[in-house]
Amino acid sequence: MCGLFSRRLSDLAMARRILVTSALPNANGPIHLGHMLEHIQTDIWVRFQRMRGHEVYYVCADDTHGTATMIRAEEESTTPEALIEQMRLDHLRDFTGFGISYDNYYSTHSPENQHYAELIYNRLQEAELIFTEEVEQLYDPEKKLFLADRYVVGECPRCGAAGQYGDNCEVCSATYNATELKNPRSVYSGATPELRASEHYFFDLPKYTEFLKEWTKSGAVQPEVANKLSEWLDAGLRAWDISRDAPYFGFTIPGTDDKYFYVWLDAPIGYMASFKNYCDANNVNFDEFWRADSDCEVHHFIGKDIINFHALFWPAELDAVGFRTPTRIHTHGFITVNGTKMSKSRGTFITAEDYLKFLSPEYLRYYYAAKLNGSSDDIDINLEDFVQRVNSDLVGKVVNIASRTAGFIHKQFAGQLAGEMHDAALWQKFVEQTENIAALYERDDTSKAVREITALADLANQYIATHEPWNLNKDPAQRERLHGVCSQAINMFRALAIYLKPILPEMARKAEAFLQVEPFQWNDLAQPLLGHTIAKFKPMLARMEMKTVDQLVAASAEPSTDAAGEPAAADTDSNSGSADDSEGDAYIHIDDFAKVQLKVAKIVAADFVEGADKLLQLTLDVGDHQRNVFSGIREAYGPADLVGKLTVVVANLAPRKMRFGVSEGMVLAAGPGGTDIFLLSPDSGAAPGMDVS
Ligand code: 2FM
Ligand code: ZN
Repeated sequence: MCGLFSRRLSDLAMARRILVTSALPNANGPIHLGHMLEHIQTDIWVRFQRMRGHEVYYVCADDTHGTATMIRAEEESTTPEALIEQMRLDHLRDFTGFGISYDNYYSTHSPENQHYAELIYNRLQEAELIFTEEVEQLYDPEKKLFLADRYVVGECPRCGAAGQYGDNCEVCSATYNATELKNPRSVYSGATPELRASEHYFFDLPKYTEFLKEWTKSGAVQPEVANKLSEWLDAGLRAWDISRDAPYFGFTIPGTDDKYFYVWLDAPIGYMASFKNYCDANNVNFDEFWRADSDCEVHHFIGKDIINFHALFWPAELDAVGFRTPTRIHTHGFITVNGTKMSKSRGTFITAEDYLKFLSPEYLRYYYAAKLNGSSDDIDINLEDFVQRVNSDLVGKVVNIASRTAGFIHKQFAGQLAGEMHDAALWQKFVEQTENIAALYERDDTSKAVREITALADLANQYIATHEPWNLNKDPAQRERLHGVCSQAINMFRALAIYLKPILPEMARKAEAFLQVEPFQWNDLAQPLLGHTIAKFKPMLARMEMKTVDQLVAASAEPSTDAAGEPAAADTDSNSGSADDSEGDAYIHIDDFAKVQLKVAKIVAADFVEGADKLLQLTLDVGDHQRNVFSGIREAYGPADLVGKLTVVVANLAPRKMRFGVSEGMVLAAGPGGTDIFLLSPDSGAAPGMDVS
């Protein structure tokens, strides 16, 4: 009683008030295993802090604004609002499936976000940190919108490679402005963009250089991140362009009717907005967390590709307008699967939804935890190692401790544990790790925490092997020892389940039911379970089978969308994916077919592609312009067979980024593949650019 009372008091004395966020997923594609790394990492940290008795709020939202949302809604004949709401629900369903325990999952397209975006902007204005300047940019005259760099393709100004984006060349690595591309075309319409000037709004970031030099060294970011930031700071900051011209899906800038906040301006403000929405519904004081002198904590978990937004623009903005800056920014690296980028064609671009059809979320939570060490290094999911690690650590070492000993407690002792510890010194080793393992969770080094926990599991298994309860059970004279050994084993299992609870909440829930105890708290080990009655043991985690993983990979492999077997693009970064796995019926409606624009094209040049033995690079004349298309017909045709031929191209296929450049369409061919591929050719008389119907 006294112990319990004093423990509560000491917990209260140290209680921290913590707001935690994961980066807001874009509302333009499904959640995949890349997102899951971050949200699992955050969730583990959050669950750990809750177990410590702290006051924790974990919020997230979908990042909804931008031209892409607008265009996609148009393509799907819906409104951006309807599109983003469906996407938000899909995202939340997937995250919930992985046990991610947000207190609120909101949207950046919300009144709260508009309120804080405007408030921050107005205060920046008052502080004279906003200025305007004319900017010249490429404009799509057909779609009537300005084009971001990634929405323009053309030939590299340095090496001439076709099909390159407006910011850099995949072939020669040159970086340039979109305006320097030769023969540029809009990704949306294929139209030749025009150069147009418009007025843009800028946040005067350079004024914050000295502040940021200090702030980035204050311990709020990991050392390697601080180094990267200091390189940028030393190279000199530039003002940040925070406006975009209409048409755009977002919030208009106060005092204008055709200028919008750039999506990245209101995205981090979305953290505040989601929290505000939660606070209003739950009577929590928002200002206590965000005022400049707040003693609460704010933690952002992000991928290393968005450090500049979180560790430069965001703290500068917050400080400038009188809000607090983040306590810590926890940055993680990218993921690869079997050593390479996630790939749709290899089936390793795995969506959260597909994963959950085949495997328990706890397996991935454990594997990610075992890999994350608090640095921003990249992480590889080796699928065989994944299976092996989960089976050997969790099933073989942890759960096994309970499954091998619980039966004796039931059969021989009516489910009641012994009244004292059989090996108090060994038990002490488990208790002693409490603060060490806590410190590892605190600094995101779950890899080391898992190593410490499995080392304890090894001790427990050795103990069981030494005492052989199955032999003690045969000898009535050893009854008391049998009771002591099995009770100690159950207590050690309990310790492991407590230590693993932030990572494996579902297994912990089953362990709590088995042990007939209240939800585990971090300091529960202060009291061992003595003389306590437990329930019958039920299996807690099934072994993982490699064949199930193979099935998942097979189900995730996107059937090549090119009749000629062109490999699908590997287009992933840490957080954004673009799987578009629409499931179709056997028949399509005539309206669907009408969406496909087929055109006659003349092959004006054909080349081998270095490093791709199934591909040819084709330059197609489609009447009013030329296109670059990669096609998997190399086994059937040589370049010389093709130049001058007419063929049919799917002209409105979204450009796909491949390792060698961007493929702007798809040529049609028949046959099973390999050498048996026959390019479709219209009869003579057809001319490049003619519609095929
Ligand atoms: O990189 C991304 O996917 C962005 N949507 C992350 C935004 S995080 C925050 F700033 F909102
Ligand atoms: Zn180039």
